[in-house]
Amino acid sequence: MKEIWHNVFRDERGLYTKSLDPGTKVYNEHLTRYKGFELRSWNPRRSKLAAGIMKGLKTFPFAAKSKVLYLGAAQGTTPSHVSDIVDKGFEVCVDISQKTMESLIPLSERRENMLPVLADASHPEQYAEYCDGIDIVYQDVAQPNQAAILLKNAELMDKGYLILAIKARSVDVTKNPSEVIKGEIAILKKEVDVVETLRLEPFEKDHALVVCRK
Ligand SMILES: C[S@@+](CC[C@H](N)C(=O)[O-])C[C@H]1O[C@@H](n2cnc3c(N)ncnc32)[C@H](O)[C@@H]1O
Repeated sequence: MKEIWHNVFRDERGLYTKSLDPGTKVYNEHLTRYKGFELRSWNPRRSKLAAGIMKGLKTFPFAAKSKVLYLGAAQGTTPSHVSDIVDKGFEVCVDISQKTMESLIPLSERRENMLPVLADASHPEQYAEYCDGIDIVYQDVAQPNQAAILLKNAELMDKGYLILAIKARSVDVTKNPSEVIKGEIAILKKEVDVVETLRLEPFEKDHALVVCRK
């Protein structure tokens, strides 16, 4: 077992994060004891960020005190691992679906660094008041204009990292996924520096993870 980034561990079986809420499962992850603390397995087939790490992601900006805006938090699978990692920072978790709040609210009650927000990521003004000092925006929303939404949210921070999980089929199901991904990256490049791009196969078909710097 090796700690590859703050609170992120890896062994020959896979990835783990150090749990901020020992004894509690968020989905069907495995809990393991290691050196007196608890690790939660982090499944690359359930999390595009974990898939990116398994595919060799080099730029990993998340640290103990990071302040993260997470767009498309859903039921909190990946957000819970981000919460483990940024243990002394905070994570604003936005989702447009009322249904997801039924999971996100109780999850956030157990984790002091998570704030659930029911809002539309296309309208950052709906949650800007919670975003003072954010230095990472992570976006995973199934929408046609994914790059444009990320750039709108980039306006909430002075400088920092932006990570976009692109689902090509949500942008345009009729086009070649590689062309769609190229098109979204071209939109990003007009306003931010694109520092790394990874395809997520075999974990996620027709998806890419793009890391940008503002
Ligand atoms: C693929 S799921 C996210 C999975 C999650 N990131 C994870 O890894 O655990 C996409 C989520 O985006 C949300 N979503 C779609 N459009 C949105 C929007 N305009 N603003 C905020 N959330 C949105 C959906 O409700 C859904 O929960």
